[in-house]
Amino acid sequence: MPDKRFEDRVVLVTGGGTGIGQSIALAFAREGALVVVAGRRTQELKQTVVLAREEGGRADACTVDVTDEEQVAGLMGTILDRYGALHVACNNAGVPGSGRMLHEFGAEDWRRVTDTNLQGVWLSMRHQIPVMLKQGSGAVVNVASIAGIVGYLNAAPYTAAKHGVVGLTRTAAIDYGPAGIRVNAVCPGPVLTPMLEQARRDRGPSADEFYLRNIPLGRLARPEEVASAVLWLSSDSASYVTGQALAVDGGWTAQ
Ligand SMILES: NC(=O)c1ccc[n+]([C@@H]2O[C@H](COP(=O)([O-])OP(=O)(O)OC[C@H]3O[C@@H](n4cnc5c(N)ncnc54)[C@H](OP(=O)(O)O)[C@@H]3O)[C@@H](O)[C@H]2O)c1
Repeated sequence: MPDKRFEDRVVLVTGGGTGIGQSIALAFAREGALVVVAGRRTQELKQTVVLAREEGGRADACTVDVTDEEQVAGLMGTILDRYGALHVACNNAGVPGSGRMLHEFGAEDWRRVTDTNLQGVWLSMRHQIPVMLKQGSGAVVNVASIAGIVGYLNAAPYTAAKHGVVGLTRTAAIDYGPAGIRVNAVCPGPVLTPMLEQARRDRGPSADEFYLRNIPLGRLARPEEVASAVLWLSSDSASYVTGQALAVDGGWTAQ
């Protein structure tokens, strides 16, 4: 039997329909949380809900585009109407953006990547934190990337956005620590998900050589390995941890 560290906790996972977000959502559900998964595609969200329920967990789906403030506000309203609280928010929604040099990305690429990966996280926190302030507690975990800690080859807008997420995380930890709200980030290296498949296509045949050359553990991550770090940061076991950007990267950023 898994631990039930999140029994009766209301947890929001953006981008919870696929990849790392789905794994995070299922891990929370296994540990007793009521998980709300949010993203743009209904079918993917429903699939996560079905998987969580099959394992005896509680889950719900809400569609949202995190780049649209009205929708983000609406999502928080729905969660409060249905469940009356938000104990943990995992801001995981993101889009890929790699495979070219800085000067080869256009303004549209820049907007697409930063709107979701940076502004989307800011908008999400902007509407989650007031709820946590009223409660007097809460935990936020943002999914950044190793590209939020170090430079990342041929991924300028993505790297800028993820560095921004780490900056937002640290600042929010300072702003809201006195109110009992902890804010941390996880920074995964390459993880086996649909996004990595896209990145592999964008980078071409040398992609795997690039990844593996940089990973001391010598393999790509499984989504569950990121989920376990998110759950720890969200849990009472991390009660004195805030403002951190925790690399889950097989050693990539140790070099
Ligand atoms: N895979 C990796 O190697 C890796 C490494 C480091 C960090 N990360 C980060 O991990 C997070 C999850 O990525 P993943 O690898 O699991 O890829 P993924 O399977 O493509 O998941 C991304 C999720 O974000 C959602 N999303 C995208 N744009 C959105 C928007 N505007 N509004 C709401 N939801 C949106 C997508 O759902 P919809 O399309 O249905 O909205 C999707 O479920 C991302 O932040 C990514 O940058 C991934």
